[in-house]
Amino acid sequence: MCNISFCRSEPTLLRAFLHGGWTARVIFRCGSRKFVAKLGGRLARVRLPVRTSRLVLRFPQLSDIPFFLRYLNEPAVFDPVFYRHTPLKRTDEVDFVRRSLREARDGSRLNLAITIRGTRTLMGGIGLDTTDWENGRGQLGYWLAKPYWHKGYGSEAASAVCRIAFRTLKLHRVDASVFQFNPRSMKLLRRLGFVAEGRKRSVLNRGGRWHDEVLFGLLATDFRPFLPRK
Ligand SMILES: CC(C)(COP(=O)(O)OP(=O)(O)OC[C@H]1O[C@@H](n2cnc3c(N)ncnc32)[C@H](O)[C@@H]1OP(=O)(O)O)[C@@H](O)C(=O)NCCC(=O)NCCS
Repeated sequence: MCNISFCRSEPTLLRAFLHGGWTARVIFRCGSRKFVAKLGGRLARVRLPVRTSRLVLRFPQLSDIPFFLRYLNEPAVFDPVFYRHTPLKRTDEVDFVRRSLREARDGSRLNLAITIRGTRTLMGGIGLDTTDWENGRGQLGYWLAKPYWHKGYGSEAASAVCRIAFRTLKLHRVDASVFQFNPRSMKLLRRLGFVAEGRKRSVLNRGGRWHDEVLFGLLATDFRPFLPRK
């Protein structure tokens, strides 16, 4: 079997994976040979792209990288998302796209780009870590470029992924963690039914100050799907 990440004809493979719809099986070429990849354990149940009333969540592509670099490196997004202190570089984002491919294939994580339905405008990203199948647990993370905040898009994307977590993947709970200086994200989580369950003290040093991380959890039985206003 061809190793997708390091194969000589990797760009061709990446294009085949990233631009096509993501289904349980993906056909791709390596040189002159054709392969059928069986994807991702239970993640193979997810039908991509995911459509909501205003959004399309699709697999990230190499062509998304300039957008990711521009908006993820803005302090308003970077500070609440990362522990790291140095800006993201192109190589980090190429690694991210490759890793997304690998992790979707081995069923350990689903990373998706958030776009506007109709125009396909790229707005941000969302991910669900699914490494703990035995305990039915997932970990949610998300971000939007600042021009798209406060329109309900964040809640709509997070709600769609929680719906997949509970209805399609049959997870029992979804975790999320938020730095204490991010009330917008906490509000989003509470809107979906997440409950603050604990706190890691002084885990992040930003701007010379220590910040806590608040740990949220959502049980399948407490999930309140988000419906945007028309
Ligand atoms: C956190 C983040 C994703 C929130 O995204 P968002 O889309 O602005 O948040 P929401 O979905 O909660 O927006 C809902 C708000 O939009 C308003 N809104 C506007 N149009 C709306 C519509 N059609 N339907 C519903 N709500 C709408 C609502 O009134 C609501 O306002 P409120 O929060 O004052 O009640 C975004 O701020 C972000 O990316 N931040 C930086 C990265 C980050 O913090 N990531 C999370 C790390 S834990």
